[in-house]
Amino acid sequence: MNRDDFLIYEDDIIYLDSGATTLKPKVLSDTMAEYYNHYSANAHRGDYDISLKVDTLFERTRYLVSNFINANTNEVAFTNNATDSLSKLVWGFFEDYLQPGEEVLITKSEHASNVLPWFELAKRKGIVVRYIPLDEELKVTLENVRNAITEKTRVISLAHITNVVGDIRPMEEITKLAHEKDILVVCDGAQSVPHIPVDVKKLDIDFLAFSAHKMCGPTGLGVLYGKEKYLRQFRPLIVGGGMNASFEFDGTVVYNEMPHFLEAGTPNIASVIGFGKIIEYLENIGMERIQAYETKLRKYAIQRLKEVPNIILYNEPSESGIITFNIKDIFSQDLAIYLNKYHICVRAGNHCAKILKEDLGIKNTCRVSLYFYNTEKEIDALVEALKNPKLKEEII
Ligand code: ALA
Repeated sequence: MNRDDFLIYEDDIIYLDSGATTLKPKVLSDTMAEYYNHYSANAHRGDYDISLKVDTLFERTRYLVSNFINANTNEVAFTNNATDSLSKLVWGFFEDYLQPGEEVLITKSEHASNVLPWFELAKRKGIVVRYIPLDEELKVTLENVRNAITEKTRVISLAHITNVVGDIRPMEEITKLAHEKDILVVCDGAQSVPHIPVDVKKLDIDFLAFSAHKMCGPTGLGVLYGKEKYLRQFRPLIVGGGMNASFEFDGTVVYNEMPHFLEAGTPNIASVIGFGKIIEYLENIGMERIQAYETKLRKYAIQRLKEVPNIILYNEPSESGIITFNIKDIFSQDLAIYLNKYHICVRAGNHCAKILKEDLGIKNTCRVSLYFYNTEKEIDALVEALKNPKLKEEII
């Protein structure tokens, strides 16, 4: 779908690494260039026309993002990326909220950004990180969540879609169960918000983090959503201009309300304005349509990849556009380098999910991650390259 919007396709490339970052449609660079060339004033600081235009467009993106996930505008703060959102959430809120001995539940298939902040909090504050066991398909079941909860569980922090297994977690049911027991739910939406409709009110999650660059937007921009009642409890993390209403020589400070409270310093203005266009772009295509297209393409890819001799598919039963595999006796990175000869881009390695090896039984894999601009023809080219009878010789 919409391949003509991407100038990169003027080159000979088969891009199958959208889980790492997506391609960018021309409308993004056009919008950002227009800001830099024609009205590059600061945000929230000027009283002249181009500055007011910046303010309007900047806040318009917040409005568009809020609508996109069904949040209120004061519940959406701009950050640097999903990792930044999750770390800010842990330091700005959970460090005070959690007490020593209290438990956070995650899984072994989480990305580093949803593991390491909790590990740090365990070291500094004495909280306990525990794992919800994955089932035989490497998925999270409601039953396993229920069994993992103890009297000390205060938070469940999960990726909505994981970046290696690609399973879609039943967040709505998990949240319902968690809230019955007064447990907060953090959702890492880095791999879900770009690919499926996400409605924070319907899911009733307490926090959501995601990145613009994984959904055709600019790099260096992320979103932290939080329910207003919790965002109000954040402590100041990064202090300076833009996040304070006043301060006096005697140390008296009045901070701004959320979400500006979390946005100290000159923000990433061009990216925020560009991201607004991208939200409109994705809405024009339609998130249901994107999900349906990727589901169909995944089915096709799985069916075709099964033709490849010696292929090991690690996540056949998953639902998203993420397909993880190896070819027996070939190191994943060697395979990715081989595919590059055919201009096919896949990711190889542990994909920042470094404790998944415990359940996956292997450390490194190749990963195809699809988006709406991929085609069956591209899958055919991948399969043909993998079926090459001289594959091993070409690698060695
Ligand atoms: N988290 C990104 C990925 O999975 C970088 O590739």
